Amino acid sequence: MFDVAFDYSANQEEVYRATTKGLIEGLISGYNATVFAYGPTGCGKTYTMLGTDKEPGIYVRTLNDLFRAIEETSDDMLYSVSMSYLEIYNEMIRDLLNPSSGFLDLREDSKGVIQVAGITEVSTINAQEIMELLMRGNKQRTQEPTAANKTSSRSHAVLQVAVKQQSRCRDVLQEVRFARLFMIDLAGSERAAHVSEPGKRARINR
Ligand SMILES: Nc1ncnc2c1ncn2[C@@H]1O[C@H](COP(=O)(O)OP(=O)(O)O)[C@@H](O)[C@H]1O
Ligand SMILES: [Mg+2]
Repeated sequence: MFDVAFDYSANQEEVYRATTKGLIEGLISGYNATVFAYGPTGCGKTYTMLGTDKEPGIYVRTLNDLFRAIEETSDDMLYSVSMSYLEIYNEMIRDLLNPSSGFLDLREDSKGVIQVAGITEVSTINAQEIMELLMRGNKQRTQEPTAANKTSSRSHAVLQVAVKQQSRCRDVLQEVRFARLFMIDLAGSERAAHVSEPGKRARINR
């Protein structure tokens, strides 16, 4: 069962509106959410999530609307937003905004929140700057030929947006809300089903 299906005439804005836009209100109210693109190499996952300068995808549209929603309520609320962009390849984590930092560890903090130790956190609200960062990060993704594709993405790319929200009113009980949105461009799904490529690939197929 599908909630919605798009035909060939659907554009980035329509896909964004029907799938992701509605999550922003929840995000700034403290609800976590995840959006991911799944399918074989070449089906349009990266186009849908990242897009191009002219036709930006879900990442940038979401961030733009998030910043707008924050702006609209900023008289009453104090926000801080941070983003990170990482790759999971072969069960290893790499920082796509700073690939030279090597493989990073997952840690759990005292509140039980899972953190990637040492990851680059960006808090710019400039959409153009974000797009450039993400485009550059995307070029750092691990690609590897498979029997099915010459340049398939073997990694999952995860854009994580963390939003912290606090009331500006000092009389009110100082409740802090924290939520994360994960937007994920998964590795090509063909690797699991019918690509004969034994060895290291098998480890991320579980
Ligand atoms: N809806 C679309 N409209 C126009 N071009 C598209 C669309 N979807 C995918 N493409 C193009 O098709 C090619 C493969 O898409 P891509 O997003 O890289 O696939 P994937 O990430 O699933 O391997 C790219 O050149 C991309 O720009
Ligand atoms: Mg891709």
